[in-house]
Amino acid sequence: MKLLIKGGRIVDPLQNLEGEYDVLVDDGKVAALERNIKPGAGVEVIDVPGCIVAPGFIDMHVHLREPGLEHKETIATGTRAAAAGGFVAVAAMPNTEPVADNASVITYIKEKAAREGAVRVYPIGAITKGSKGEELSEIADLAEAGAVALSDDGRPVMNAEIMRRALEYAGMFNLPVIAHCEDLNLSAGGVMNEGFISTILGLRGIPAGAEEVMVARDLILAAMTKGKLHLAHISTAGSVQLLQQAKERGIKVTAEVTPHHLCLTEEEVVGYNTNAKVNPPLRTRRDCDALGSALAGELIEVIASDHAPHAAEEKDVEFDFAPFGMVGLETAVPLVVTFLIRPGLLTWKQAVAAWSSNPARILNVPGGSLAPGSTADITIINPAEEREVDVRRFYSLGKNSPLQGRKLYGWPAATIVGGRIIMREGEVLV
Ligand code: DOR
Repeated sequence: MKLLIKGGRIVDPLQNLEGEYDVLVDDGKVAALERNIKPGAGVEVIDVPGCIVAPGFIDMHVHLREPGLEHKETIATGTRAAAAGGFVAVAAMPNTEPVADNASVITYIKEKAAREGAVRVYPIGAITKGSKGEELSEIADLAEAGAVALSDDGRPVMNAEIMRRALEYAGMFNLPVIAHCEDLNLSAGGVMNEGFISTILGLRGIPAGAEEVMVARDLILAAMTKGKLHLAHISTAGSVQLLQQAKERGIKVTAEVTPHHLCLTEEEVVGYNTNAKVNPPLRTRRDCDALGSALAGELIEVIASDHAPHAAEEKDVEFDFAPFGMVGLETAVPLVVTFLIRPGLLTWKQAVAAWSSNPARILNVPGGSLAPGSTADITIINPAEEREVDVRRFYSLGKNSPLQGRKLYGWPAATIVGGRIIMREGEVLV
């Protein structure tokens, strides 16, 4: 089957290419990337004037909740949410039930995703057994079964010696260790950012330092081990500063930021909105600005959603009792377009790299380029489309978004996986 994508603006950071080109897809691969390709017989044409055409977006931080937590999300629904959000692939966090800390759970996720998934799924294995932080998982087994990274996301590895060994062993298999940076003693009992607003609301705060002391520790361990450290969802200006110093010293480290930490502040919590309860917590405008500048300065390489679906009844409780997390797959792109790209704080090239070539490189998975011969994984975005967020339209089972009713620009117009259109104009076709 041949497909011709006509009239869009190509943004391909790996090829340093930006401009009006057509893309011809044949047999699941990019066959040509040229100006004014003539549609031959039997070629399906999609006209996308004014749209951005980019290498398929990869979200490297997603909670699919399967196995075991299917009342929150499943591989089928989570990957459809990904397709709706413009993503061709997701990396699935291991805090499932059971935890993905052994080869059989990794194999289960891969097989289930192959049967029921709408997009590519790359499982992440747990660093420690049960993500308890006490004993390393069988890292060689996880690598052999196809885990693309290791993480105890949702929890830190509090014991520095165990984190050291994790970085050393994972390094032997070229697997990144994705660190959830939180000192549990400093964050204990906290439910939102510690500051003026937590005081006014009478809620226990999580200080910026709870993240920063662990960022500092993990950077020291990365220097010591030469392991591949990736900092998950960093949220504070102080973490950005530590990252910058580490990179200046030549420490091997990469980092990600979520759209919500870039765009939303702790003020979302006013009114005790449990859909704004997330870990790390939403911080201050100053933190958002520092994260945005770090992304634009290419100090932070990745945008990842930390899509964390929860059931309505779990969130519909007093603030203290609600679980941390918000859904993100279906609003990630328009949130970043509205808050950063439209105001000129981030270029399309930077955003596309942070969503495609950079996560592909870090996870060592295919993707990230539209060069002829590459697999035809493509994301198309309409920067001008304005629409209100309506959680009832989400493909995700999780409706826990603080963005309900918010007007955003720049919605994904199509998602193409292996040459097949799996989402068009917001409608998932598989
Ligand atoms: O808010 C969060 N929710 N942060 C995490 O690190 C884990 C996630 C979850 O699994 O719900």
